[in-house]
Amino acid sequence: MTQASTSTAAAGLDAAAGAAYRSGMAEAFNDRALPAQKDARYRDVAAEIAAVLEGEPNLTARMATVASMLASSFDHYFWTGFYVVDPAKGDELVVGPYQGTLGCLRIVFGRGVCGTAAATRQTQLVEDVEAFPGHIACDSRSKSEVVVPVVDRDGELIAVFDVDSDRPAAFDDTDARWLEIIMAETFA
Ligand code: SME
Repeated sequence: MTQASTSTAAAGLDAAAGAAYRSGMAEAFNDRALPAQKDARYRDVAAEIAAVLEGEPNLTARMATVASMLASSFDHYFWTGFYVVDPAKGDELVVGPYQGTLGCLRIVFGRGVCGTAAATRQTQLVEDVEAFPGHIACDSRSKSEVVVPVVDRDGELIAVFDVDSDRPAAFDDTDARWLEIIMAETFA
């Protein structure tokens, strides 16, 4: 376990809350007061995601839940979601589960911030999207973004996770580090 790894016990969470979500009858997460401090909030939400997804193998369900829970937890998130690797093409991303305004459908590897994250397998932290070569403006309100590669347990790239903000320089290393942890814990 890494220092920042999560567990329901570490966050003091009730296992019943996760079970209630899995059976489709809880409102606990949406009603919950989250810590004000960003690092603590990510820790809390990461543990909640793990609790809710425990035992759920379906990839779409896992991605949709991650996007929903993160989007509803942070005010600086404007567009939150996955671009998945299209198995038919291999070098092209297609939009997956997301929260936010209408997203572009397809992004070729190497193009824009998401395509760069996919091609390099490196997290991209972009303070000013206008300054990023080839940035794809799906919504002109997006000002900054962070994109994290998503790999499965075999180390294969399956998607990238993209968060855009309508605020400039909205993301920092805390966002990048926690999103990397959450993607690894959920999909690897
Ligand atoms: N900004 C991204 C495109 C995806 S959307 O913003 C939803 C990019 O340049 O890769």
